[in-house]
Amino acid sequence: MRLQDRIALVTGAGSGIGQAIATLFAQEGATIVVADRVLERAQTTVELIQAAGGVALAVVVDVAQKEAVDHLAAQALTHYGRVDILVNNAAISDGDDILTIDEATWDRNLNIVLKSVYLCAKAVLPSMIEQQRGAIINIASVNGLTGLGEEPYSAAKAGVINLTQNMALKYGKYNVRTNVICPGTIHTPIWNRVLEKDPQVLEKLAKWYPLGRVGQPDDIAKAALYLASEDAAWVTGTTLTVDGGLMAGNFRMNQALQGEGE
Ligand SMILES: NC(=O)c1ccc[n+]([C@@H]2O[C@H](COP(=O)([O-])OP(=O)(O)OC[C@H]3O[C@@H](n4cnc5c(N)ncnc54)[C@H](O)[C@@H]3O)[C@@H](O)[C@H]2O)c1
Repeated sequence: MRLQDRIALVTGAGSGIGQAIATLFAQEGATIVVADRVLERAQTTVELIQAAGGVALAVVVDVAQKEAVDHLAAQALTHYGRVDILVNNAAISDGDDILTIDEATWDRNLNIVLKSVYLCAKAVLPSMIEQQRGAIINIASVNGLTGLGEEPYSAAKAGVINLTQNMALKYGKYNVRTNVICPGTIHTPIWNRVLEKDPQVLEKLAKWYPLGRVGQPDDIAKAALYLASEDAAWVTGTTLTVDGGLMAGNFRMNQALQGEGE
């Protein structure tokens, strides 16, 4: 058990990557605060954890709202007394052309993706500093590393990477480690809207990946487990790219130069 007796708060834990992180952390001995905007989703994850013999609490939150985040942190502290691990995972992506995105949509992306990291960290850091131990894991994206479209989402994810680095510098002296994971394409419900329009989209995208497939939520959960555990005791400020090789170079161009691919 790599997270025995740890208290972990995971946002967006009602679906996809957040659910995989919450259930894996619970299997490894952590008690989980399952935070999500949608109660039924949070409850589903809690039921999965409980069915496997774990302990979890569902809390409804909009991570973009300070009062809601403060309430979430208060629930965690009231029930369990501290937060050892925070995973900032909740996000949305909406809009991909600044000529057509309205201001409200831009703000919504930035608030849910980036401001949420500030709000959640601010709410749990005092408890981590007090106990001189904490692990914060932010889920960004390969979109935060290079130009892949989805402009407001991607700009916010780039902000998450930079915020992670600054938090690592500031809070290392309290033994609070802050790291960020950049996933490539992961098959989760976030793709449902796109899959409705193009059911083959994930097979098409797989061709851009040197490892020949898109990722699964567990690929990211295992990376998060490493960063949350004592195995990463001397790791802070790191950007861990978990992307089947997407960011290693231009795979399709390399294939074309070798006379391979389509
Ligand atoms: N799936 C991918 O291809 C992919 C790739 C790179 C990065 N990511 C990142 O991984 C994380 C998880 O994505 P996913 O694919 O599992 O998405 P998902 O849509 O399956 O799950 C996201 C969860 O977050 C919740 N949520 C949304 N807005 C919220 C809010 N304001 N407050 C609280 N909860 C909210 C949703 O209800 C949902 O349960 C996100 O940060 C996403 O940007 C995903």
